[in-house]
Amino acid sequence: DSKHLYTVVVLGASGDLATKKTFPALFGLYKNKYLSQKTHIIGYARTKMNQATFEGHVSKHIKLKSEGDKAALQQFLRLCSYQSGQYDQDNDFQILEKHIEDLERNSGATARLFYMALPPSVFINVAANLKKNNYREGIKIRLIVEKPFGKDLESSRKLAKDLGALFSENEVYRIDHYLGKEMVKNLMILRFANVIFGSVWNRHSIDNVQITFKEKIGTEGRGGYFDEFGIIRDVMQNHILQILTLVAMEPPVSLDAEDVRDEKVKVLRFIPPIVKENILLGQYIKSEDGKEPGYLDDKTVPKGSKTPTYAAATLFIENERWSGVPFVLKCGKALDQQKTEIRIQFKDVAGNLFSNLSRNEIVIRVQPNEAVYVKMMNKEPGLGTKTIISDLDLSYSSRFIDIAIPEAYESLILDALNGDHSNFVRDDELIAAWKIFTPILQFIDQGKIDPIPYPYGSRGPKGVSEFVAKHGYTRGQQE
Ligand code: BG6
Repeated sequence: DSKHLYTVVVLGASGDLATKKTFPALFGLYKNKYLSQKTHIIGYARTKMNQATFEGHVSKHIKLKSEGDKAALQQFLRLCSYQSGQYDQDNDFQILEKHIEDLERNSGATARLFYMALPPSVFINVAANLKKNNYREGIKIRLIVEKPFGKDLESSRKLAKDLGALFSENEVYRIDHYLGKEMVKNLMILRFANVIFGSVWNRHSIDNVQITFKEKIGTEGRGGYFDEFGIIRDVMQNHILQILTLVAMEPPVSLDAEDVRDEKVKVLRFIPPIVKENILLGQYIKSEDGKEPGYLDDKTVPKGSKTPTYAAATLFIENERWSGVPFVLKCGKALDQQKTEIRIQFKDVAGNLFSNLSRNEIVIRVQPNEAVYVKMMNKEPGLGTKTIISDLDLSYSSRFIDIAIPEAYESLILDALNGDHSNFVRDDELIAAWKIFTPILQFIDQGKIDPIPYPYGSRGPKGVSEFVAKHGYTRGQQE
């Protein structure tokens, strides 16, 4: 499958996602020779642009680190072309078809990758037009789609059904870009290729699991989009739940995409819907120094909105491995730092041989500064037998000095080109994920929970520490 030569069509090519993520990732793949010199890339969107403007747009967020990069970009831009068109006009997709066919004649491409970087409102229109006008027997089709995949169980089911009527599940690649992150891809190896981790990865040894996502920035101009979704739909129900799934799933039979995804669906189905006692919501207000605006100061946010920009939620997995172990998920915008990490906290050591012990923890830092470290007790060096908490620390920046960590989008686009679905979200997985969150989201959407205000740049709403402590997490020595 990987031998196919592609024509790549980016739909929504003038948007934020395409400029910030898709084009830089395609360039990264091209530069590192993962894309053939003959791969044509077509941008399609409503905005009228000439070739020069489009090239400016493609290059806008591409970082050039050397003279070699500059030369590669010039070559890359020669493969890029643009066509403006409406999303609901048959005729425009026929023109697109002619454009693709002209390029295919020249390149000999045998496959097409349609990358849908589009708002949900035009999504099905575009898919239908592609199916009708740009689908050719004998030419391999791959369709990358981006969230939001619906807003709740019902809308997600409808979207899956409408898309399923046009393209087979095998042709669809649903992106959750967290699945392309280096440390997220590392989770299965850490768990299933290490006896020392694998054998303690259960409720007998683990007390609780914390998964945290923090961002320093607020909604900054994206308030209009964000307000309809909120932090749970924007980050927790997808990115953070995907991490949880990989932390908690059983070992798959093989690394085949369907075997991996079967296990992911299975573990999600063991999670009952979140109850309101196990959720805490926040919304940011002006920073303490008054310099940064509050969420409601964003002009695109409706007055009096109760949309959460922070959420903490506790989930339980009711199976043999995890029953009784709280998984505490915390996500927030406009906080004191940017960080995504997984913290697995172990139980207390039995007996009372030593005093002043902290619990063991395995911490997997997804970003920034990828690392895995284990918090462990050690003898404080010197005379006496005092205990001290220490780290076994694998920091990527010092251990893998010459290895550049690829961007998530590069990794995922490459997987899609190779026909590998392992790191994409399957339709039944999505349904299982929505089942966990839909009841609480409906309750929140009815305005039944007032988010707790927290200042921009702070550690989050008051009460988070208590919320976390209630579910078992204890702070260690010197913390
Ligand atoms: C996106 C969300 O999916 O993920 C954004 O819509 C969020 O709100 C982003 O900022 C975080 O991604 P990353 O890769 O910057 O951690």
